[in-house]
Amino acid sequence: AADIPEDITEILLTEEQIHEKLAEIAAQVAIDYEGKNLLLVGVLKGAVMVMADFARLLPGHIAMDWMAVSSYGAGTRSSGVVQIRKDLDTDLHGRHVLIVEDIIDSGLTLSWLLENFASRGAESIEVLALLRKPEAMKVHVDCRYVGFDIPNEFVIGYGLDYAERYRNLRDVAVLAPHVYS
Ligand code: PRP
Ligand code: MN
Ligand code: MG
Repeated sequence: AADIPEDITEILLTEEQIHEKLAEIAAQVAIDYEGKNLLLVGVLKGAVMVMADFARLLPGHIAMDWMAVSSYGAGTRSSGVVQIRKDLDTDLHGRHVLIVEDIIDSGLTLSWLLENFASRGAESIEVLALLRKPEAMKVHVDCRYVGFDIPNEFVIGYGLDYAERYRNLRDVAVLAPHVYS
């Protein structure tokens, strides 16, 4: 859209860089989960692009499910109050679960999800996050597969939104402060 360039201060990661990284992670995941009953759980809505690209880089039959949670609403900061908007359809009992996220910001969403999943009888639970902001993390989250550690700036694109906009940008970019200030 014509209004996009002035809303961005910098392209942080191009879709090529993202793809290359996801391919590396997929090769590792294929090894780590060989012979295991892997279930990918995407966290709606931000993780749709990562999930779509990552799942297609994996060999074999990969099950996918989705959980819709939201803690940001329309703002730029996590409220810490996580709401389930859609629960899983899958019984996690005996499953090897890999949660797929676009970003770990404060870590509140994932730490809440990990706790929520812990009681559901999964055989293992790990996390893949394309992006992580080490300076913004308020709670520690064990994340086995991290794409990129990024600076503490508000990023959009490749699934990430600001007030539901910009998810369809192909790259990950820094949102210009004038948009939200
Ligand atoms: C965003 C992002 C992560 C979460 C990370 O989701 O997609 O799920 O925030 O933030 P945290 O580490 O501070 O919890 P959001 O709540 O905006 O919902 P969305 O995926 O539908 O955009
Ligand atoms: Mn999200
Ligand atoms: Mg969001």
